[in-house]
Amino acid sequence: MDVRLSINIAEGEAQSHTLSDGNRTLPIILVRWRGVIGAFLNNCPHAGVRLDWQASSFFDRDHENLQCALHGALFEPGSGRCVAGPCRGSRLVRLVCQVEADGQLLFVDVEKIPNRAFQTRF
Ligand code: FES
Repeated sequence: MDVRLSINIAEGEAQSHTLSDGNRTLPIILVRWRGVIGAFLNNCPHAGVRLDWQASSFFDRDHENLQCALHGALFEPGSGRCVAGPCRGSRLVRLVCQVEADGQLLFVDVEKIPNRAFQTRF
């Protein structure tokens, strides 16, 4: 199942969105970093929770990395690699997507995105 999202994201911005494949609704992070739009599951590899403590609040104080609000792990916004914190060396799950001619973001085969043990702390 292919899913298209209408997006409006500025350079250096990260946003929370959801993707649905009809059976699951997955929280995701969209980020535009150094001109490239990336998408990751909003799921910290340390304890399986969302990174944001409030919607679309992802960047650390220096605006250099995405930060998990629970224990402070830092992730490179371009690669999703954890560079500090309790899950250093692990990665956010990157989602394959592409920007279409009409500006929408296309996700292909959303049903193949792996299930992770999503937890909710809210
Ligand atoms: S749950 Fe994200 S750093 Fe612990």
